[in-house]
Amino acid sequence: MKDIAVVTGASGGIGRAVAKKIHEASAGALRLALHYHGNQERAEAVQAGIPDSFLIQADLSTSAGRQDLLASVLKAGAPYILVNNAGIDRPHEPALNVQESSFDQLVNVNLKSPLFLMRDFGKEMIRAEGGMIINISSVLAHKSLVGSAIYRASKAALEALTKQFAFELGPRGVRVNAVAPGFIETPMTALLEDDMKVQIRSEVALERFGSPEAVAAAVCHLIDNDYINGAVISVDGGMAL
Ligand SMILES: NC(=O)c1ccc[n+]([C@@H]2O[C@H](COP(=O)([O-])OP(=O)(O)OC[C@H]3O[C@@H](n4cnc5c(N)ncnc54)[C@H](OP(=O)(O)O)[C@@H]3O)[C@@H](O)[C@H]2O)c1
Repeated sequence: MKDIAVVTGASGGIGRAVAKKIHEASAGALRLALHYHGNQERAEAVQAGIPDSFLIQADLSTSAGRQDLLASVLKAGAPYILVNNAGIDRPHEPALNVQESSFDQLVNVNLKSPLFLMRDFGKEMIRAEGGMIINISSVLAHKSLVGSAIYRASKAALEALTKQFAFELGPRGVRVNAVAPGFIETPMTALLEDDMKVQIRSEVALERFGSPEAVAAAVCHLIDNDYINGAVISVDGGMAL
C-alpha cells in the first residue's frame, strides 16, 4: 500500500493547488486523500485531475467528522503528510460586534480541527516512524484588518500550536510547519467587495493578489527540506511588512 498525503479542504482554491503539486512532486509515490466538506462537485473535479486519488467527505468542525477522516485514511494506508488547509474567514465582524456563535464557528474549523487532527495523525505518523504536517495560517495572524478579530486569533493560535507540535513531535520523527498566505485568488477572496480588494492590494508591496500555486510551492518546499521544523513561511507579496 502506498503512503497517503491528506489535504483537507481540497475542494477549495488553495487545497486543490496543494494536492496537485504534492501529487506531481511525489511522482506517484504518494496517494492523495482529498477531503471536502460541502462542495462535492468541485472535489470530484479535483479528483479527476489527480490519478489514484480518493475523496473523503467530512465536517471537520466536529469530533465525529475528524474521526471519520482519520478512519477513512487508515483504511487506505499510512498517513505520511497532513496538510491542514480547510478554513473559513466568515463571519466578518468589527471587534466591538463579535458574536459568541461566530467565535465557535471560526475556532472550530480553523483551530480545533487542525489541533485534534495533528494530535491523531501525529500518533499514526510516529507509529509509522515518520511524517510531516503543514498548517495553513494567514498573513492576518500578523496584521490587523477590520472584521477579522476572531479569524486573526484562530490563525495566530494555529501558528503557536505549529511550533508546540514541532517541538514535541520533532524528536519522534515528525516535522510540523506552517505557511501564512497573503491574499490569494480563490473562492474565499472572490467574495470580497471590490473596494475591499482595492484597499488590500494597496497594502501589498507587490501590489497584487497571489496564486494558489505560489502557496502550493511553499508547502512542497517545507515537505522537501528535512531540516525545517516549527517554521512559518510567509507567501504574502510583502503584505505583513
Ligand atoms: N484565499 C486567501 O486569500 C487566504 C489567505 C490566507 C489564508 N488562507 C487560508 O487558506 C486555507 C484555504 O483557503 P481558500 O482560500 O482555498 O478557501 P476556499 O476556497 O473557500 O476553501 C476552503 C476549504 O475549506 C473547506 N471547509 C469549509 N468549512 C469546512 C468544515 N466545516 N469542515 C471541513 N472543511 C471545511 C471547504 O470545503 P467545501 O468547499 O467542500 O465546503 C473548502 O475546501 C484556509 O485555511 C484559509 O484560511 C486563505
